[in-house]
Amino acid sequence: MKFNLDSTDVSKQQTDCIIIGLFEQSELTPAAKQVDKISKNYLAKLLKQGDFQGKMGQTLFLHSVPHLATPRVLLVGCGKKMVLKAREYRKIVMSSIKALSTVKIRHATSFLTELEVENHDLPWKVKQAAIITAEALYCFDQFKSNKEPKPALQKISLYASQNQQYRACEAALQQAICINDGVEFTKNLANLPSNICTPTYIATQAKKLGQQYKHLTVKILEENAMAKLGMGALLAVSKGSAQPAKLICLEYKGNTKKQAPIALIGKGITFDTGGISLKSPDAMVGMKYDMCGAATVLGTIKAAAELKLPVHLVGIIAAVENMPGGTASKPEDIVTSLSGQTIEIMNTDAEGRLVLCDALTYSERYKPSVVIDIATLTGAVVIALGQHATGLLSNHEPLAKDLINAGVESHDRVWQLPLWDEYQEQLKSPFADISNVGGRQAGTITAGCFLSRFAKKFHWAHLDVAGTAAMMMGGSERYATGRPVPLLMQYLINQCRK
Ligand code: BES
Ligand code: MN
Ligand code: ZN
Repeated sequence: MKFNLDSTDVSKQQTDCIIIGLFEQSELTPAAKQVDKISKNYLAKLLKQGDFQGKMGQTLFLHSVPHLATPRVLLVGCGKKMVLKAREYRKIVMSSIKALSTVKIRHATSFLTELEVENHDLPWKVKQAAIITAEALYCFDQFKSNKEPKPALQKISLYASQNQQYRACEAALQQAICINDGVEFTKNLANLPSNICTPTYIATQAKKLGQQYKHLTVKILEENAMAKLGMGALLAVSKGSAQPAKLICLEYKGNTKKQAPIALIGKGITFDTGGISLKSPDAMVGMKYDMCGAATVLGTIKAAAELKLPVHLVGIIAAVENMPGGTASKPEDIVTSLSGQTIEIMNTDAEGRLVLCDALTYSERYKPSVVIDIATLTGAVVIALGQHATGLLSNHEPLAKDLINAGVESHDRVWQLPLWDEYQEQLKSPFADISNVGGRQAGTITAGCFLSRFAKKFHWAHLDVAGTAAMMMGGSERYATGRPVPLLMQYLINQCRK
């Protein structure tokens, strides 16, 4: 999909279609007013007939509107209020693209960027429109024999008048295009089934990225190297699988300054059966998505490299398959992590923290200024926050604030949970330094507490994306969302402004 900015007004628009918003009670947006004027009140008459009420997300195509240069107009309902919430704006843009994708339109110009959105400026609207457009058109059909025909839509022009914000709009659009690229990469990798997307496959994809971008280097650690280092926790998860684990290390140097890196650590469980603490069949559906943290790290680094973002980034991916079997770890096994701390594995299904703790310790060698891990870590976060917010836990308040703000700006939001010492007590083990589970209460927090024991040497935040990275509730409504790539990209962009 191609995007550009366009400052041509309605009267001179010659694309296949213009998209304009209308409110309920026949309230006209500026573009709609212009259409009405040029067409000698064609719109007003149509609205009077009552064929279009302006309800949020409602759409209607008009053909051959009198005196208009463009052959079609797509009306999009914007609801009652003239000032929209971010969510409403996104919904309106989404409806417009869904409508376009069903017809034979190659190039459309959207005037929805004129709509007023609470607390957000024109560059934000441009960026969100481009991101939502890609979202609306995403399709994963590589395993379908009969593919749905691809929409004719090739290009969207976003209306932005030539004012002081034009340069900022250009930058915002460029960011959106790169974020779309990263999000698409993340979704495509995450949507693959685990018989294809193995730890080895992810490592190969990472290597390919390394060849694609000049400032990106990729190194893979094999199991023997990990054993030598003493990654007993990660390897305890991998033991039961026929697929060898990979520790995938990426480094992107987007500037020449000697700057401590920001490290992104991804949980890459390519399938989570639960291991010997086997999941039930229903709970196992969706567990191919247990590598979404890894896919997010790759997608974010790809987007950053594509945007040539002047940052120093490190990515560390713990790619492992969690299987039961004769060689698998068992409940009450005790292992020694890379940090030296011993762990009693009370539940082999709490494997994410086992692979992440060694990746966290490994990240110390890069002397990072900030470490952010991304993981589909707990079912409990889905109970606490549902699908709309990613769970955030952090040992450094300013970092938490930065992520919360980036979440609001990108609309890829996070919600913080406490990391109080009181919760640490739930992780006591009678035999080892720490247990890998903390009981039924506050499952997301105790998982965060576990990780915090391995994050003492840096500013760290943990993103539990079990509810947001993929919709995996069974049935045919299963898909990766690409979150939290937009959040992390916004965070990185904001860091570059500092
Ligand atoms: N990958 C799961 C978490 C998960 C659950 C992600 C549902 C997406 C949807 C994780 O490895 C897991 O199994 N967690 C356990 C932890 C428990 C054993 C302490 C859980 O949440 O039940
Ligand atoms: Mn598990
Ligand atoms: Zn898992």
